[in-house]
Amino acid sequence: MTLKFTIPTQNARILAVGAYRPPRVVPNSELVERIDSSDEWIQQRTGIQTRHWAAADESVADMAVKASRIAISRAGINPQEIDTIIFATITYPYQTPSASTEVAKQLEIKGAAAFDVGAACAGFSYGLGLANDMIRSGSAKYVLVIGAEKISDFLDLDDRATSFIFADGAGAVVVGPSDSVGIGPTTMGSDVENRDAIAMVPSWIDYKPGSDLTDLAWPVIHQEGQKVFRWAVYEVAKVGKEIIAKSGLTPADIAAFIPHQANERIIDSLTKSMELPDTVIVARDIRTTGNTSAASIPLAMDALLAQHPDLHGKNALLIGFGAGLVYAGQVVELPPLPKN
Ligand code: UT7
Repeated sequence: MTLKFTIPTQNARILAVGAYRPPRVVPNSELVERIDSSDEWIQQRTGIQTRHWAAADESVADMAVKASRIAISRAGINPQEIDTIIFATITYPYQTPSASTEVAKQLEIKGAAAFDVGAACAGFSYGLGLANDMIRSGSAKYVLVIGAEKISDFLDLDDRATSFIFADGAGAVVVGPSDSVGIGPTTMGSDVENRDAIAMVPSWIDYKPGSDLTDLAWPVIHQEGQKVFRWAVYEVAKVGKEIIAKSGLTPADIAAFIPHQANERIIDSLTKSMELPDTVIVARDIRTTGNTSAASIPLAMDALLAQHPDLHGKNALLIGFGAGLVYAGQVVELPPLPKN
């Protein structure tokens, strides 16, 4: 028997964004000695000048809660109206229960659906796509989508390929009902040929059923920088073009480009390959934030709106890409000026 249920067609949009950057600012000069590098090299090769690291007793969930409180307040809704929490992260140190349930507990949100997304630096765009589809299909009304990381807990400070890149922070958006289409179709995908190019090792890579688990060391992040760089520059540019076309737009309709903040040279290359016009305002939050994986897009969105208030309500292209290798992106209408 067919279900007697009419699928609602409710449009969705980002109602508000919130961000939290831990107060401790770490300049390149603090890191260079251990990796035989220099402030000049790091700035030239990545654009990074400084980044934020969380305090030892500040967890990734604590940071997520701070960003979420701001997003919920700006959206002008009661926290109890949130019916779904999606938390994108790779640095919550527990397999279960999930980071999203810790946020629900800290925010005293009762009964909400809560789950985590493990899609590395693409996690926020995966979560945003899911939130949009859940609202459109009637499974949710107000979804809190969080990207938060405390990567400083998983860094090898002697690794020349990672120690200066990754950093900490949290961003969150509230997605809710809208009269018009505020989030375009999400493109999600993977390139598993390059699965080991970024990995937390020696955790699961060394693990085989029957391994002595006591031998496993605390995991740290590693990456084959050049391999990821080449992939990002060639493959992610194609994804970006596909996202714009799927939304029924052209590059001229885009007001802002907010890619994952992995490397400023990748951001420049993507902007050029996708033939984005000079009028497009490009997020370069990496300079003072570093690469915060799943947190990087909402952090960059918050910073861009603070610098360019005229972008509220305008179209932005978001693209996340990272370990897996995986990618996801969409065109969104940036949130309106906050009510609070
Ligand atoms: O968030 C997930 C996605 N991640 C990414 O998209 C990251 C993509 N990759 C990158 O951002 C870059 O590959 C890195 C920033 C990681 C490295 O930059 P690169 O321009 O690819 O450096 P490279 O590995 O090609 O090395 C170039 C030179 C070498 O010297 P020679 O052989 O040309 O004399 C390296 O030995 O730079 C040297 N080098 C360094 N020098 C100072 C490599 N690492 C360092 C360092 N400091 N940290």
